[in-house]
Amino acid sequence: MTDWWKTGVVYQIYPRSFMDSDGDGIGDLKGIADRLDHLVDLGVDAVWISPFYPSPMKDFGYDVSDYCGIDPMFGTFADFETLRDAAHARGLKILMDFVPGHCSDQHPWFQEALSGPDAPKRDWFVWSDPAADGGPPNNWISEFAGPAWTLDQASGQYYLHIFLREQPSLNWYNPDLRVAVYDAMRFWFDNGVDGFRVDAVENMGPDMSFRDNPPNPDWVEKMGPARSLLGTYTKHQPVLRDIVEEMRRVAAEYTPERLLVGEVYGSFDELMGYYGKDLTGFQLPFNFALIETDWDAETIGGLIDDYEAKLPEGAWPNWVLGNHDRARIATRAGPAQARVAAMLLMTLRGTPTIYQGDELGMESATIPPEAVQDPWEINVPGQGLGRDPVRTPIPWRTGTGAGFTTGHPWLPISVPPEGPAAVQAEVPGSILMLHRQLLALRRAEPALTLGDYATVSARDGVLIYDRSHEGRQLRVALNMTGKPRKVDLTGTVLVRTSGAVGGAAPAELAADEGVILAV
Ligand code: GLC
Ligand code: MG
Repeated sequence: MTDWWKTGVVYQIYPRSFMDSDGDGIGDLKGIADRLDHLVDLGVDAVWISPFYPSPMKDFGYDVSDYCGIDPMFGTFADFETLRDAAHARGLKILMDFVPGHCSDQHPWFQEALSGPDAPKRDWFVWSDPAADGGPPNNWISEFAGPAWTLDQASGQYYLHIFLREQPSLNWYNPDLRVAVYDAMRFWFDNGVDGFRVDAVENMGPDMSFRDNPPNPDWVEKMGPARSLLGTYTKHQPVLRDIVEEMRRVAAEYTPERLLVGEVYGSFDELMGYYGKDLTGFQLPFNFALIETDWDAETIGGLIDDYEAKLPEGAWPNWVLGNHDRARIATRAGPAQARVAAMLLMTLRGTPTIYQGDELGMESATIPPEAVQDPWEINVPGQGLGRDPVRTPIPWRTGTGAGFTTGHPWLPISVPPEGPAAVQAEVPGSILMLHRQLLALRRAEPALTLGDYATVSARDGVLIYDRSHEGRQLRVALNMTGKPRKVDLTGTVLVRTSGAVGGAAPAELAADEGVILAV
């Protein structure tokens, strides 16, 4: 039988901004349970929910203070069980976010480690004596700016934090730490979780000789301070092979085997390593190529071919247009082009992940300075690094609070051009309805899930490719420009980005138009 995640579509929920059930302005687990209809109507197979563990929320849940609990802000363990059961009853899998690279400085492990150099858990974190001048041991820079080292006054040693100083890095070279983290994974698998999205993997095993990272020759300021250095000694280190394969072995203790999706930013060559030897690593190392690319047909056609060619034998591909860290697709490519992007995502070979709100055409919002929440924006203001713009609450309907909250939303609510969900659900041809059509077509056409992929052409701003399975051939033609384009197509229309169905192949694609044809 085909693994569910090969034919399935994943939907990312950022729980603070999905649905607030208790009026505190912050989304929660009950809220998600209340809105499962949206996901069923959309036609997705699984949700990945960003962290809802106990957390001081310095990085909005990516600073975990208990790997086996639930933050009261999001609900109780009973709320989790209710959500899990309600999702499963509707055929939806639950993927949790797992953050193994660092914990909160308030986690009992770090608190114990702080008690002194001889503390049993001291080595669960990464420590170094100061440099000769008393400063940080090397030049490593935190992803959120500033040194990646903070001095522990009491011991005179520095601890490493690839992210905020409140997110001390865990030492994956320590075997006891590994056992403790794997036990936390088992805790959730034992509690019926279908898999994990594993956070920030490429940073997990920095080189312990602490050599300086070399400068990045291609750096420009808008990339943020951390990118001014290459990740030569901090990212994609050899130890990660082992770690990823060990994690997979934990997932493989369960039937059906649990899914591991790795958050890995890197080149295709780096990415492929995370499938592991003979595919014993992550089933899906996230492919962020469509998040990082310039939006034009020639470039995108090229990167699809490159990715397909580099996939190891038998490895399953995957594609993503957005997440809670990166600019919205409707902003990067433009609101009209967001429909073309959705058609692309739903027709490429491999598992798609939809970021919440992209199905509504949400744009990166403008956040007034007084409303800023993201620590990255606070550390490096005004350069467009902050992630609040892509984390604003889902507008469910018109009116105050937009059906998201009865209270004051934690970030301002921003409504997409085509309106809130309830409005779009009544408008044939809305971007929400287009998503429903595309997901339904994907479910109905094995060519779109199991089929082969072949680029037909990528020129003049139009990308054309085929998906074929057992004699059924579908052709996808995407005009990635804002101008009409003549095309040479045959067959009958299954769906256009306007939502129109049926008819003969068009001789011209309108500006920002895509079409799926049965040849
Ligand atoms: C990942 C998360 C991001 C978080 C960081 C640190 O990149 O997606 O939101 O800030 O890891 O955990
Ligand atoms: Mg709430």
